[in-house]
Amino acid sequence: MGLLDGKVAIVTGAGHGIGRGHALELARHGAKVVVNDLGVSVTGEGEGRDADLTVDIIKARGGEATGNYENVADFDGAGRMVQQAIDEFGRLDILVNNAGIVRDSTIVKMSEADFDAVFNVHVKGTWAPAKHAAIYWTDKFKETGTPVGGRIINTTSGAGLTGNFGQTNYASAKAAIASMTQTLSLELFKAGVTVNCVGPAAATRITGTMPGAPAVIEADDVPLDEWNRMDPAVSSPLVAWLASDEADHVTGQVIRAVAENIILMKPWADGPTINNGQKRWDATKLGAQLATDVFFTRAPGLRY
Ligand SMILES: NC(=O)c1ccc[n+]([C@@H]2O[C@H](COP(=O)([O-])OP(=O)(O)OC[C@H]3O[C@@H](n4cnc5c(N)ncnc54)[C@H](O)[C@@H]3O)[C@@H](O)[C@H]2O)c1
Repeated sequence: MGLLDGKVAIVTGAGHGIGRGHALELARHGAKVVVNDLGVSVTGEGEGRDADLTVDIIKARGGEATGNYENVADFDGAGRMVQQAIDEFGRLDILVNNAGIVRDSTIVKMSEADFDAVFNVHVKGTWAPAKHAAIYWTDKFKETGTPVGGRIINTTSGAGLTGNFGQTNYASAKAAIASMTQTLSLELFKAGVTVNCVGPAAATRITGTMPGAPAVIEADDVPLDEWNRMDPAVSSPLVAWLASDEADHVTGQVIRAVAENIILMKPWADGPTINNGQKRWDATKLGAQLATDVFFTRAPGLRY
């Protein structure tokens, strides 16, 4: 009995890299997989049937998969992708939002088009499939009155959680995905749908654009019984578990899977706080109090 027997999954951006790793892992555990990929370059140009590369591997191993070539950031295209899962496999249980591109440069050099393209693929490309899946699941919940057990697994990045030089577009898009995960988990809780977010790290086409990056590895290049810290499939077992019935108590979480480590991220939390007893703050006095009680630095104006 597989962990995901009888489940139907969509994995976006699954023609290459981390998404391919997830698709192969979900299929290995028994899920039928809609392998989505627009087949673009790492900066989002062109189009192709790269999804078929992954479909062929799953089918060759006796699994069930079908290709989908939609742009995840196209609202109607995202709807057609969800419908394809229902039409071809009868249902949808798991949505893994993974598709992504990068267009790095410092803000001074970054064009408006580079900002918009990256934000569009990551943020709208997560929101649009999630919205169509949410409508399907909440309708099902209304019909049956039974929690549906759906799963959304989004993809953030270290850049989105702690910032990264030269990635104002990508880092803010990835932070938005973490925040969308938390909000969506609240909205879909009653229907029995969990929403979590993984933060992978791997030697893919995306990291391959960075100076000094290791050579690109494709998921499936590394045999299952071998260990490579930068294998794009390193985070895939975590995704498979989050997608399973076993994980029905985990929602609204951001979890990084970096080489050997699975790391639960702490959400934003209140730090040192000062209180002015319902009086307006005086900006000329605020600096001294912030220095002693919040930032623990020297008071402004104090010279040594
Ligand atoms: N590689 C890393 O170390 C790393 C770290 C943190 C997060 N991520 C995230 O992991 C995800 C996968 O990236 P990867 O590193 O495997 O890169 P990749 O380039 O190997 O794979 C990304 C895939 O997404 C597809 N894609 C891009 N735009 C699309 C669109 N609009 N619609 C459908 N498909 C589209 C591409 O064709 C490609 O196959 C991305 O969201 C990325 O931001 C990667």
